Order: sequence, then structure tokens, then C-alpha cells
Amino acid sequence: MSELLLQAHDVHKTYRLGRVDVPVLRGCDVNVHAGEFLAIRGSSGSGKSTLLHLLGGLDRPDIDGGDISHAGRLLSSLSNRALDWYRARTVGFVFQFYHLLPELTVLENAMLPGLVPGGVGAAAARTRATELLGRFGLDHRLDHRPRELSGGERQRTAIARALVNDPPILLADEPTGNLDEHTGAEILRLLHETHQQGLTMVLVTHDASIADQADRALNLVDGRLTD
Ligand SMILES: Nc1ncnc2c1ncn2[C@@H]1O[C@H](COP(=O)(O)OP(=O)(O)O)[C@@H](O)[C@H]1O
Ligand SMILES: [Mg+2]
Repeated sequence: MSELLLQAHDVHKTYRLGRVDVPVLRGCDVNVHAGEFLAIRGSSGSGKSTLLHLLGGLDRPDIDGGDISHAGRLLSSLSNRALDWYRARTVGFVFQFYHLLPELTVLENAMLPGLVPGGVGAAAARTRATELLGRFGLDHRLDHRPRELSGGERQRTAIARALVNDPPILLADEPTGNLDEHTGAEILRLLHETHQQGLTMVLVTHDASIADQADRALNLVDGRLTD
């Protein structure tokens, strides 16, 4: 097995709704190895997005609710600055509903992670975003707004954005969930190609046929991951 890159150990996550605790993750363990394409399958509401957000350092487990670590370092031990770097340079995120900013052009959207703390900076982001968008067949769309794009073009823009800081890991949250079958297959092909160029990928989905395309798939059931 290749190097262990990302690890969740006995992770618990509970949301508080008013005075009611809603436990979502109840002891999740996962080891993500460098270069693999791991799928996590679960029904709607099973906690897939919650888990992905924890892996990406966008949220934290419960207090005493286990650990997430990257390359052997606990995310909970990182300084704010190191966590910014982690979010910007180590993981890229792709969402089901693209989350593009409507007032920005395609190129500006794709550049955005380059401009946040820890990002590569505006000049490098412009070069890399232009290169990625070209590779994804969007060179004629750079100055368009997201509303002028099809769903597949929006998701390709979002994937370019996720990769603009050249992170080694991509976290994809139902990236084809809002697309028709043909367009979804195109997006998956693009993700496969990117994975084959060396990217480690964790994709969550409710769709077994998508999970089957990964190197390895785990099921998220009752707040835990099983083979
Ligand atoms: N910020 C939140 N506050 C309260 N409950 C939440 C929050 N986010 C998610 N949940 C609840 O946690 C459960 C898991 O949500 P989620 O991780 O989005 O599942 P999935 O992505 O598998 O559909 C759901 O019951 C959802 O309603
Ligand atoms: Mg979700």
C-alpha cells in the first residue's frame, strides 16, 4: 500500500438543533492512501457531506470526538495559518451545486482559491486557471458568467477552481448529482483523468454505479464506515 495521506480516527460529529442533539457521525474510521480514488457511498442524510467537510478542515469533529490527520499531523493541532494552508493547498473541494459566484466570470471563479490566505496568489492563479479551463474545453468561456453555462460547464469550472492551487487531494461531494446521465459521465471521466495524473480523490455519492468506478468504496451507514 502507498503512503497514508489522510486519516479519520473514531470521528464523531453531532449537530445541535435547538435542545436536541443529532448524532451524525458515530465513530468513523477511514484511511486514504496517496494516489487512490476512494468512494464513500451513503443514502441522503447519512452524513457524507459532514464527513467530507471534516476531512477538508472546513469543520471540526465533536470535542473528544476523534481525530482527522493529514500526513500524520492532527488537523486539530494546526495553527490558523497552517489550517489556511491546508484548506488552500492540500485539499480542493467540488460540490454538487457548483457554488460558483454569479457576479464573477468563469476565469475569476476558477482563480478564487488562489487569492485566499494560503493560496498561490493572483498571477499564478490566473495562469493556472487559464490552463485548466483550456484543458477542460472552456477556453471560449473565460469571460462568461456562470448563468450562461450549462450544468456540465459549471461543474468543469468548479473542478478547475478546486485544482487551481494544485492540491494533492480532491474532495468531491456528489459532483454529478445535479447533472443528466451523459453530462455526469463526462464529469466523471474528467475526474478519472485528473486522478490518473496523480491526484488523490475522495468522492461521496448516493449512487452505487458511481461508487463502483472507484479503486475502493466504503459505505456510510449509521454514522460508521464499512467495506
Ligand atoms: N449545519 C447543520 N446543522 C444541523 N443539522 C445538520 C447540519 N448539517 C447537516 N445536518 C444534518 O446531518 C445529517 C447529515 O447531513 P449531511 O452530512 O448533509 O448528509 P448527506 O451529505 O449524506 O446527505 C442530516 O440529517 C442533516 O439534516
Ligand atoms: Mg450531502
